[in-house]
Amino acid sequence: MPRRPPPPSLATQSVQRRARASPERIAGLALRRALSVRDRPALANVAFDGETVTVVRQLVLPTIAQFGVTLRPWQLADVPGLSEACGDEQIMRFTTVPRVFTRDAATDWIDRQGRRAESGTAIVLAIVDAGEPFPIGMVGLFGLDRAVDSARLGYWLVKDARGRGIAVIAARGLTDWAFERLGLKQVVIDREASNIASARVAQKLGAIETGAHIVEYRGAEVHFIRHVLERPRD
Ligand SMILES: CC(C)(COP(=O)(O)OP(=O)(O)OC[C@H]1O[C@@H](n2cnc3c(N)ncnc32)[C@H](O)[C@@H]1OP(=O)(O)O)[C@@H](O)C(=O)NCCC(=O)NCCS
Repeated sequence: MPRRPPPPSLATQSVQRRARASPERIAGLALRRALSVRDRPALANVAFDGETVTVVRQLVLPTIAQFGVTLRPWQLADVPGLSEACGDEQIMRFTTVPRVFTRDAATDWIDRQGRRAESGTAIVLAIVDAGEPFPIGMVGLFGLDRAVDSARLGYWLVKDARGRGIAVIAARGLTDWAFERLGLKQVVIDREASNIASARVAQKLGAIETGAHIVEYRGAEVHFIRHVLERPRD
C-alpha cells in the first residue's frame, strides 16, 4: 500500500523547488501547497528569485476578548508597560523578558515577539485588563515551527494581576482559539515542580499531569512537571 505523505508542519514551511517549469507554475504550486496547510489564519509569503520559490508561513496574531480580559498582539506603545515585569523574580526564571528595564531592551523584546509570528515559530500575546492601557501579562504558544499538532503554553502576569484567575481566562482563550483555528491536538505545560500557582492554572484548565523531567537550564538542573491539555472532543 502506498504510504501517505506526512502531514505538513503547522507553522513555518519553506518550499524550495528548482525551476523546471515556468515561474508562474512554480509559484502557483508553492502557493497551493502553502494554503493546503491547516492553519487557516496563516498567510503565505511567496518569493521567487528566478530559480527557487520560497514559501514562508506567517502566523496572523488574533485578538481575543472574553470575561473582561483581552489578548492581543504586543505593540510598541506597550514599552512602558513592560517595566513592571522586568526584574520580577518569578517572571525572570523562564522568560526572555529583560531583567533590567530600558526603552531599548523593552522595544527589542516586543519586536522579537512580532518576528516570531512572522517566522511562524510562536504566537505571543499581551494580556490586557478591560479599561487599562498597558498589558498585565503574556500568554503564548511556543514551538509551533517544530510541532505538527502540539505546542507549549507559557504565561506570566505582573504581581498586582495575580490571584484573580486571569491566567486561566487568558490560557483558555488562546488554547480554544488554537485548537479550533490551528488544528492543534494538544497543548503541553511544563512548569517547575515548585510552581504551585502554575500547577493550579494547569489543573483549572483541565490539563492532566503526565510526568516529570529534568532540564539543564542556565547551568542548573531544573525539575519540571508536564501537564497535557487535549483538544476537547466535538
Ligand atoms: C502562574 C501565574 C500566571 C498564575 O496566575 P494567576 O492568575 O494568579 O492564577 P490564579 O489566580 O488562578 O491562582 C492560581 C492558584 O494558585 C494559588 N497560588 C498562588 N501562589 C501560590 C503559592 N505560592 N503557593 C500555593 N498556592 C499558590 C492561588 O491561591 C490559586 O489557587 P486557587 O485556584 O485554589 O484559588 C502567576 O502566578 C505568575 O505570573 N507567576 C509567575 C510566572 C510563572 O510562574 N509562569 C508560569 C510558568 S510555567
